Amino acid sequence: MAARLIQKILKSIGINVSRETNALPSSGIKVSTTPACGRSYSSGVRKVTLIPGDGIGPEISAAVQKIFTAANVPIEWEAVDVTPVRGPDGMFGIPQAAIDSVNTNKIGLKGPLMTPVGKGHRSLNLALRKEFNLYANVRPCRSLEGYKTLYDNVDVVTIRENTEGEYSGIEHEIVDGVVQSIKLITEEASKRVAEYAFQYAKNNNRKKVTVVHKANIMRMSDGLFLRCVRDMANNYPEIKFEEKYLDTVCLNMVQDPNKYDVLVMPNLYGDILSDMCAGLVGGLGLTPSGNMGLNGALFESVHGTAPDIAGKDLANPTALLLSAVMMLRHMELNSHADKIEQACFAVIKEGKYLTGDLGGKAKCSEFTNEICSKL
Ligand SMILES: NC(=O)c1ccc[n+]([C@@H]2O[C@H](COP(=O)([O-])OP(=O)(O)OC[C@H]3O[C@@H](n4cnc5c(N)ncnc54)[C@H](O)[C@@H]3O)[C@@H](O)[C@H]2O)c1
Repeated sequence: MAARLIQKILKSIGINVSRETNALPSSGIKVSTTPACGRSYSSGVRKVTLIPGDGIGPEISAAVQKIFTAANVPIEWEAVDVTPVRGPDGMFGIPQAAIDSVNTNKIGLKGPLMTPVGKGHRSLNLALRKEFNLYANVRPCRSLEGYKTLYDNVDVVTIRENTEGEYSGIEHEIVDGVVQSIKLITEEASKRVAEYAFQYAKNNNRKKVTVVHKANIMRMSDGLFLRCVRDMANNYPEIKFEEKYLDTVCLNMVQDPNKYDVLVMPNLYGDILSDMCAGLVGGLGLTPSGNMGLNGALFESVHGTAPDIAGKDLANPTALLLSAVMMLRHMELNSHADKIEQACFAVIKEGKYLTGDLGGKAKCSEFTNEICSKL
């Protein structure tokens, strides 16, 4: 009875589990080394879905588009609106046109989206992750030359399971005043993110993968996640592997971030730890991210919509720009990626056109123009 209920819950969130076997097949994940784009023209121009987002989203998206034009990047943007629409079942969801665009192009760039707190539609970010099965969130955090923070030479990559764990969205009220939230961990999702982490380390000449967990407390859920990563480590003997408790990693990370290289972890830990790592290199305005899916990838800045500065030409577009650079590398447009990244880093290093969040006085448009002039 309980097993059937759980199967029903899993099915409702898009996970099919067969009870006949404990041995799930290998997830078959490949960390793409080939262009992941669906549509391209004979000229080599590829289509990319653009979700400008809310708040500062449209301003920073426009900045990225301007820089890409200056760098002659051979892509065509397909801008889509993801403002929730009411479906036939009365529920609000992502408009079909946006879903079709990402499914066809298989690659997208996304600005921040506003999530109402405690009411209205559910997080669109969560909905996008579920819709496109974006199972791994990758955030490289690297110190930027010329922008001084507490630490030099930070170079860590957090890889966060992105589809389940504490963010499964399964919550209910048992009786008045008692609510329950289910942390769902499956072997399938744990294996595929583990495989992604090791493959990422291998492809990017990284030396070590650390699994971050609390299996001493959550023995079954984190225990399963840990076992999957541990098993995967056996397939990559050339990569050093270590197991660490979340609290230990937090302590070590603020004392000496150089202790870590690639870190892989369940959803909530990844959400918190990746923001902490962003803080070590200068904040969310500088940190890129990519969401890798079974059937495509969505790259996004990790900060929010910054309603306090929206529409004032004050936002820092670096995080979205560096996410777009990550996207270009994923599409194997490496020389364009390098060129744009170097121009961006050079402007930050010179320090003459920094936006307010980096201690400067420049507008978003001035920072953008300076990058374009370097291209
Ligand atoms: N990935 C996403 O789409 C995402 C992520 C986080 C928050 N959100 C949403 O964004 C909204 C606002 O959230 P919040 O206020 O907690 O966080 P926030 O990241 O929007 O803002 C926090 C602070 O950082 C500043 N900031 C953020 N990005 C900046 C940038 N690029 N340049 C300069 N300054 C920047 C803001 O001005 C603000 O002072 C909420 O609706 C939240 O749900 C979306």
